Amino acid sequence: MLNKINALLSEIMDLRADSNKEIEDLRIKYLSKKGEITQLMNDFRNVAVEEKRAVGQKLNELKKKAQQRINQLKESSENQSADAEDLDLTRTSYPYLVGTRHPLSIVRKEICDIFARLGFSIAEGPEIEDDWHVFSSLNFAEDHPARDMQDTFFVKQGKDLLLRTHTSSVQTRVMEKTQPPIRIICPGRVYRNEAISYRAHCFFHQVEALYVNKNVSFADLRQVLLFFAKEMFGQDTEIRLRPSFFPFTEPSAEMDISCNLCGGKGCPFCKHTGWVEILGCGMVDPSVLENCGIDGKTYSGYALGMGIERITNLKYQVKDLRLFSENDVRFLRKFESAI
Ligand code: DAH
Repeated sequence: MLNKINALLSEIMDLRADSNKEIEDLRIKYLSKKGEITQLMNDFRNVAVEEKRAVGQKLNELKKKAQQRINQLKESSENQSADAEDLDLTRTSYPYLVGTRHPLSIVRKEICDIFARLGFSIAEGPEIEDDWHVFSSLNFAEDHPARDMQDTFFVKQGKDLLLRTHTSSVQTRVMEKTQPPIRIICPGRVYRNEAISYRAHCFFHQVEALYVNKNVSFADLRQVLLFFAKEMFGQDTEIRLRPSFFPFTEPSAEMDISCNLCGGKGCPFCKHTGWVEILGCGMVDPSVLENCGIDGKTYSGYALGMGIERITNLKYQVKDLRLFSENDVRFLRKFESAI
């Protein structure tokens, strides 16, 4: 019996199989109810008592080894077939998921780049401001509606802290610290107490520009505006200035550009006027210069301010303002090529 067990042992160690079927056949041959090893187990009864111990051990070893070998064969055959299924040589590689710049960042950068080419440098100021920098220094009357709780977010009642409603506050901050010539562009986020809808949000973004020097005239302002409009919206773009009012500029104007969708012929976007409004501007009121410690008789300046969302809408026809702050990647991915 020992001889038989040894013979089977060496046979089992050399087992080979090419398919699952062959492995199953081997299992049946050795380990099934009628298998060779099971038969030996049955014959064990007849082994002489003095040999039982040695034969029993050997027999158990044989059974264990046979099971191990069959499991090994099964495992390697499973791995092989899994490898074969995974390997699709026709498949293209996974695309790299590249992030995109936010449309407002793209447009902010474009605006700042245009003004940088004219020598403007970037200035920034705090979003949490005080009354002086946002309103008083800029000639807002005590009873101006912008100072009302309904229009402005106050950080704490009774305290002189509020969220800036426009980036014009940065003008004051720079003029307080610097004597002319001043040539700055101030991009930033601003806050207004508005009900959120497709056309209004409680926060949005502005870019402000300010130039103060000797002999700055309205003609200088107009030339810069024309240059900006053509650079931003194309060389065929025309501008028109309409008289307006801002407390901190005199005279003040609003600028329209010829509708960049219909080329000025009239369409639903420009309400069939051929023009769309894009910014406010004017000559800095001398009293604002004086408020900031700049001699209003020696120096003059112009200022302009625009909403980045508005410019972005004109460039990309975004119909709902809320899309800008929802972080929906389906929307953001549309700007992949604009970077
Ligand atoms: N601060 C104005 C606003 O938020 C925009 C503006 C208008 C800025 C005229 C200016 C300006 O510098 O000259 O509506």
